Formats: sequence, C-alpha cells, structure tokens
Amino acid sequence: MMKTEVSSIRGTSERTAPSFTSPSLQSIARLALIAALLCAGLAACGGAGGATASDTATLADFPAAAAGNPPGASARASAAAAALGRGVNFGNMLEPPREGDWGLTVEQRFIDLLDGGSFDSVRLPVRWSNHASADAAAVIDPAFFARVDSVVDRLLDKGVHVLLDMHHYRQLDGDVLDANERSVDPAVVEVRFLAMWRQIAARYKNRSDRLILEVYNEPHGNLTDRWNDLMARAVGVIRRDNPQRLIVVGPTSWNSAADLPRLVLPNDANLILTVHNYEPFNFTHQGASWVTPALPVGQSCCTADQLSKMTWGLDVAKAYGTKVGYPVFVGEFGSFSAADSAARVRYSRAMRDLIEARGMSWHYWELASGFGVYDPSGAGAFRADLRDALYGR
Ligand code: BGC
Repeated sequence: MMKTEVSSIRGTSERTAPSFTSPSLQSIARLALIAALLCAGLAACGGAGGATASDTATLADFPAAAAGNPPGASARASAAAAALGRGVNFGNMLEPPREGDWGLTVEQRFIDLLDGGSFDSVRLPVRWSNHASADAAAVIDPAFFARVDSVVDRLLDKGVHVLLDMHHYRQLDGDVLDANERSVDPAVVEVRFLAMWRQIAARYKNRSDRLILEVYNEPHGNLTDRWNDLMARAVGVIRRDNPQRLIVVGPTSWNSAADLPRLVLPNDANLILTVHNYEPFNFTHQGASWVTPALPVGQSCCTADQLSKMTWGLDVAKAYGTKVGYPVFVGEFGSFSAADSAARVRYSRAMRDLIEARGMSWHYWELASGFGVYDPSGAGAFRADLRDALYGR
C-alpha cells in the first residue's frame, strides 16, 4: 500500500537547520586532552570503532550480524513482546524535522498519562537524521541527544517498556525531503544510518532492559532491496554495546506483513518482529493531507469486506511469527480524525480485538495529534469513546 507523505503540509516554520551549541575553544582543548588520555588507555577511540564513527567511515566499518539461520526468540523476547500489551505511539513529537514542527512537543503531562493505567508501553518515534552532522560520522547534536535521554528516562521511570526507533530518515528511503529537513551527500546516506546507530546504541547501553531499540520505521522505496543488508549491519553495530538488548525489526513496504517472507533475520534470539496495519486504508487515511492522491472523506467502517482486509495482514503476521519462532506485534494502526468519530470507535475496537485474538501486542498511532486518542487542547482530555474502545479493560 503506497503511503506518500508530504509532511510540510502539517505545519512549518522557516528555521532551516538545527543549531548546535558551539563550545568555547578552551573547553574544546580540555575535552581533547581528556579524550587523548582516555584513548591512551582504551583501544576503542576514533574511527568507526568508537562511539562516534569517523567522517571517512564506510559500510565496511559496520559488519553485518550473521543472518539467515535465526534460532527463534529467547524467552525474554517473547515475554517482552507480550508485555508491550496495549501501547501508544508518542507520534508527531520527536519525528518531525524538528520537535514542534508538526504542532506537538513532548510534554510532561503526556508522560504522566502513563500513570492512568491505560498504556502498557510506549513507542517513541525519533527523527535522528535531521539532528546529526551531514558527513559520514553523523555526529548527533548533543542537545538533541540530551532531549531524547530525558524523554526516554522519564518514560522508563513510569515502569513501562519503551520502544525507541529511528523514524523518517527520508533520504534513506529515497523520499522527498520535508520542510526544515537538510539533505546530505547521497554517498554518505547509508553509512550515516549506521553511524547514528553506533552512537544511539552506545548511549543507551546501560539503560533498563525495558528499553527496546527498533532499527527503522517502515522501510520502503530505495530501502526495499537494501534493507536486509543494512538491517543486519545495524543489528551488528547495536550488538557491540548491547549484547542482550531486545531489538525490533520489521519488513519492507512500510512494515507490511506481506513482505515478512523477504526479511532475512539475523541469527539472534533477542529479536521481536513488527508490522503496521492501516487497512482499510481508504477509511483510516481519508482526508489525510500527506497521502497522494488524497482519499475522499465519508468512508465508514467496518463491513465484512473491510474486516477481512484488516484481518488478512494479521493472519499473515501471526502465521509467519509462528513459523520462524519470533513474536510479532503491531507497531502502528489507527485512523485519522477526518473519519466519522463513531466509525473510528468501531474500527479501533475491531482492530484491538482482531490483534489480541491472535495473541499479539500493539501500539495505537498515536497519542495526541491527528489520529490522537487524547485531545491536547486546553487542559487536555482523552477522547473517551476512543480511549475505551482501545484501552477499556
Ligand atoms: C508515520 C506518520 C503517519 C502515520 C500514518 C507513520 O508511520 O510515521 O507520519 O502519520 O504513519 O500515516
């Protein structure tokens, strides 16, 4: 299912690139001295072996994890997949080109919603690529890293599982860039993906094992034929610092269940599989400005035909997971607010029941924006019918 997004329509501002804080020369000299002393004692400095890849790094610096003979999931991976339960995506917050570009920022009141007992887990989409240097080293902006740390840590403090992903690196898929997004030299697009994972994995290696890393959201386009190789390299680089951390991988065609058989799984027991399901697409995405051609509003849900479309991918995912011995969860489903609200409630309940009948966990797309189960305006309130359809016990 083609999902062309033109996010510039979602709201913009004119600032072009993230601004990095420039440290004084004196502090640079001090840092350089400390780094030199540390490097004298540790072999792992500089080049792609350190926490930051060098600006001359190539794919060869990021060997792929062995793949093609997966052992099946560890008990820990299966238990964590089950514990994801009924989750929510903190969408349109950290995955726009800059936080705030699409009308939302991560607010403490959103994080505190986890106290209410509705959400078992959170998926946190993050657009790292627009906050990293344009060269092969892709050095992640320290201020942005600190911002993500603070969100991750506050979410983990709520006692839930947190799925941290890499979202919307547009050039990696070959997509048109969003407003406020910088382009990079095509020669370094792929190596940057791995250089960013090198840093992210090193940064979070000591966090709770409730922090799960998802390699990339909805690979498609240019990634279709490159995904198995790059995904195996990303798993390889994550495993350097995180030998046991759970990693989520999903198939191409926007994480479509139909592409699961194309996925060449790494030989790693600590993996969980993910699929997304936006069927029936002309219902869930009616009136969405980022879908081309635009889908007309007025579609209802859920006829027998629509229910069978919703079910198909879930059955495929379930059967595939059973065959390969890994748990699968539904990382995204949801309906845009242009649909009739009673139909959205019916759709949401039906999807929840269909997914859960197959023993899978899920994350609703998303908390507080165009698909939102929560209305952030004013003091903020859940959309009660939608919340009950999704999370009612
Ligand atoms: C994308 C969002 C989009 C949603 C529904 C997600 O995977 O990241 O930007 O709104 O799908 O189309």
